[in-house]
Amino acid sequence: MSGNVRPETMERITTPELANAFIDEKVAELRAQIGNKKVLLALSGGVDSSVVAALLIKAVGKQLVCVHVNHGLLRKGEPEQVIEVFKGQMDANLIYIDASDRFLDKLEGIAEPEKKRKIIGEEFIRVFEEEARKLEGIEFLAQGTIYPDILESGPVKAHHNVGGLPEDFKFELVEPLKFLFKDEVRVVGDALGLPKNMVYRQPFPGPGLGVRCIGAITRDRLEAVRESDAILREEFAKNGLEGKVWQYFTIVPDFKSTGVIDGKRSYDWPVIIRAVNTKDAMTATVENVPFVLLEHITKRITSEVKGVNRVLYDLTPKPTGTIEWE
Ligand code: XMP
Repeated sequence: MSGNVRPETMERITTPELANAFIDEKVAELRAQIGNKKVLLALSGGVDSSVVAALLIKAVGKQLVCVHVNHGLLRKGEPEQVIEVFKGQMDANLIYIDASDRFLDKLEGIAEPEKKRKIIGEEFIRVFEEEARKLEGIEFLAQGTIYPDILESGPVKAHHNVGGLPEDFKFELVEPLKFLFKDEVRVVGDALGLPKNMVYRQPFPGPGLGVRCIGAITRDRLEAVRESDAILREEFAKNGLEGKVWQYFTIVPDFKSTGVIDGKRSYDWPVIIRAVNTKDAMTATVENVPFVLLEHITKRITSEVKGVNRVLYDLTPKPTGTIEWE
């Protein structure tokens, strides 16, 4: 595949049949390109890297080495799902690295949002690099680049504060999705048999829960973000909002307020719920979540999440608020 412009003749992949034709073509291309060599992939569990992994497993099986780095800022159940799907179901060559402590130690006391992003991005590259150095005979590096990344449109890309691998890494790049738009990647992922909740999942920022645990990250507040996010996702799924609302999550700010729990005065954190809809993430509107559901989620969060005594709903569109709080 040469050049970086989507061929004009390329049909939009909108059906399982078109996806299967694309998969067959790519599998043949990948086999021809890779031969009997090894390919490395940083598998985050996001849509793009998951689809690249599934495609490469189909094409070259165990010659693909997937590295899943847990930076400690993933959502509840995420690393487990990556392991279950790729190792359990697809029998992939998967290396799982729990680097949570390393990231959280580096982030200790760092409150400035862009500094936090930079540390997370750089540390990610270091962990991946260390792992890559331990492996032998890798000649290719697979990436989940998609067409919008090439066009460099969209605000998500502008956030990527991540450097590259050191210059002595001389991998040939493998980017099988580089001419696809997100909706096409999802159709291909579906056709490859990936779980629906992986293929249709909401966007999740690279720095993960790190930008939702406001200010300097502490382990207990991070746990409150993770647990409240899990409750919100569970309730949205139960109530038909999963796949309907573009992005929804919780935030835990770094201040406390007074409350009463079991007749005793408490001094705890609030949890803020954000649920928004958008086309391109440049502007966003707030989802009109039914009040009874908000009440129910509030009850669950305040009784199940440690250190939380209030729940707030963010009614701010973008502009003036950004989607994330940092
Ligand atoms: P904002 O907060 O700028 O977010 O309105 C727009 C979209 O970008 C996502 N986002 C990020 N994605 N790395 C990412 O990969 C980041 O550092 C980052 N910050 C924000 C955000 O979740 C939303 O979908």
